[in-house]
Amino acid sequence: MTFGQMPPANGFLEKKDFKNEYFYEMEVGFSEEISLFQLNNFTPPKNIHTEKYPFYTSSSKFMENHFRDYSNWMFKNYLKNNSKLIEIGSNDGTLLKNFQKTDIDFLGFEPSSKIAELANQQKIKTINQFFDKESALELTKYKKNTDVICAANVIAHIPDLKDLIHGIDNLLSSTGVFIFEEPYLGSMFSQVSYDQIYDEHIYLFSLSSIKKLFNLFDFDLIDALPQITHGGSIRYVIARKNKFPIKKNVSKLIDNEKEKNLDNLNSCLEFKKNCEGSKSKILNDLKKIKNDGKKICGYAATAKSSTILNYCKIGTDLIDYITDTTKEKIGKYSPGMHIPIVSVDRFKDNPPDVAYLFAWNHRKEIFKKEKNFSLNGGKWFSHVKLD
Ligand code: TYD
Repeated sequence: MTFGQMPPANGFLEKKDFKNEYFYEMEVGFSEEISLFQLNNFTPPKNIHTEKYPFYTSSSKFMENHFRDYSNWMFKNYLKNNSKLIEIGSNDGTLLKNFQKTDIDFLGFEPSSKIAELANQQKIKTINQFFDKESALELTKYKKNTDVICAANVIAHIPDLKDLIHGIDNLLSSTGVFIFEEPYLGSMFSQVSYDQIYDEHIYLFSLSSIKKLFNLFDFDLIDALPQITHGGSIRYVIARKNKFPIKKNVSKLIDNEKEKNLDNLNSCLEFKKNCEGSKSKILNDLKKIKNDGKKICGYAATAKSSTILNYCKIGTDLIDYITDTTKEKIGKYSPGMHIPIVSVDRFKDNPPDVAYLFAWNHRKEIFKKEKNFSLNGGKWFSHVKLD
């Protein structure tokens, strides 16, 4: 299935750069052999995670709390005194900072230089590199004696999974575990949240795909825990083969995936129809609101919004501006459709009639923060159900 021409989802740009903007054909495919949903072509991560990469995990209070709970859970279940812990894609250290007052020997890998520097300034030890087989080999102190390697919303960004798994194999102790969380294919299909698909998300994982993939390298999927983050994610726990019993919920969730055809192409064909239906509904609804003389803005210039805006071809004819809290995005324009990004003051001082909530995954936090918008008659809009 193709979504048409797409710019890089985090490619917020200035007016002077419009004429040189890069586009690629965003097409997805499905490997029936390992049940893997993936982009057919992708931008090399080194062109994305530059010093300009504008995403900070700490921009959401909810995610800060989630990472505190995630750290506590790892601490309780898989770490012991003086354990070694490595986080892949540690961003500004939102997760690792939770280990600062413990005796855990922790280390983060973060390729975006500005973000890595910020983490290091806060004494969160961060290597400014991509995690791969080569960089893993340089960590002689951690070789085959790391208890936990963890990640969140990062593994789907890594094109060469074979190289990643070799890197992990070099570092994990015989009873070490690799724990990671990623948006869930099943949640994307059921909510028709196709905005999870963009250049950085090369894969959308399911238990079926993770189990088959890691089995190829003599690893087991030993546990899987559904999470509410990013509109529905799974926390996967991977260990060397036959080192841990496999928890019951793994087979339960895999059976559920089989029932829903998540392990084969049929669910993808259904999803394709649903995406096309969603596109015409969004456009009809927005045009109707606009024809009624109402003002529409976007709330949160997420990477996800880039897929919606470019696939549906929504520009300033429908949405006046997008408000966002990230200072690197404010004053720039959205990739591809060139909608101005403004600070949240504009939203508060001169509220629109309708706000398209692009950060629908943070809706609880945002509804609470912006309760005056609703109290004064403002309406939230989204392509996913907002309950
Ligand atoms: P997220 O869903 O993590 O985005 P992405 O699709 O890029 O992974 O949301 C992060 C973005 O949303 C970031 O640009 C900041 C913005 N945001 C706000 O503007 N206000 C808010 O209250 C929240 C929670 C996020």
